[in-house]
Amino acid sequence: MQVARTIAEMKKIRRALPEPVGFVPTMGYLHEGHLSLVRRAKAENRSAVASIFVNPTQFGPKEDFASYPRAPQRDLEMLESVGTDVVFMPEAEEMYPPGMDTWVEVKGITDVLEGARRPGHFRGVATVVTKLFNIVEPTRSYFGQKDAQQVRVIQKMVRDLNMNTEVIVCPTLREPDGLAMSSRNVYLKPDERRAAVILWKSLELARKLWAEGERDAGRIRREMTALIQTEPRAAIDYVSIADAETLRELDRIEGPVLVSLAVKVGKPRLIDNIILGGSE
Ligand code: PAJ
Repeated sequence: MQVARTIAEMKKIRRALPEPVGFVPTMGYLHEGHLSLVRRAKAENRSAVASIFVNPTQFGPKEDFASYPRAPQRDLEMLESVGTDVVFMPEAEEMYPPGMDTWVEVKGITDVLEGARRPGHFRGVATVVTKLFNIVEPTRSYFGQKDAQQVRVIQKMVRDLNMNTEVIVCPTLREPDGLAMSSRNVYLKPDERRAAVILWKSLELARKLWAEGERDAGRIRREMTALIQTEPRAAIDYVSIADAETLRELDRIEGPVLVSLAVKVGKPRLIDNIILGGSE
């Protein structure tokens, strides 16, 4: 496994890689969810590249950039164990040298959900992912459904700007009790970890109501909210039933819907989602 720390090194290694090249961008502190993306990139391509970069521009001033968990050595071992060919691991100054002042902004779908609560977040994501695509030039790029809105933003950006990579969306990996794997789960204290399963339980409740024929989005939102409120350690940020394509909030469910939520459990703010009536 080769490790590139500068853009020049990564570009040089890239030129010699067997095609096609699969790419998995990450912020490190890896778990099985990340590794499932790398395994798939490896299985579907002749070369697999991963990046580890805690991207400062996607964190708001009051968010957890400084305390975001980091374990680069362990990450490298994990990536090596699943057959990653190249890891790109730049410093912040390498990606954002003084004077770097070009930004990629995806309009519309970033006005809601995570975009509405985290101003500038998707501008940071779209900009860093564009830079990574230009540096790695991946044939295929792998993203997790766990970050449903991020997937939509990247897909739209690739389409709108005619980028030369195929975006592949991968299912959310979960702990045995249903909690979606996340780097931020390490912040959960033991009682909060037990409480955090309420996110998954509320998504399962939505799926059950929908399977029974419920199509009133307000009713499903209310039932999910009431269930989460039975957990005193959980504080709801939002519970959303939205059109899976446009991400617009729905009154009545007709086509595929994205059921998504953000809930603070202790310090960490957790997000999760499922798609009903479509493919994840
Ligand atoms: P990060 O949160 O490290 O996630 C990297 C990738 O792993 C994302 O595509 C994310 O959706 C996916 N992922 C996270 N948890 C997952 C799970 N439980 N199952 C399956 N996939 C999972 O997302 C980012 O980093 C950043 O925004 C990034 C795209 C790297 C840009 O900085």
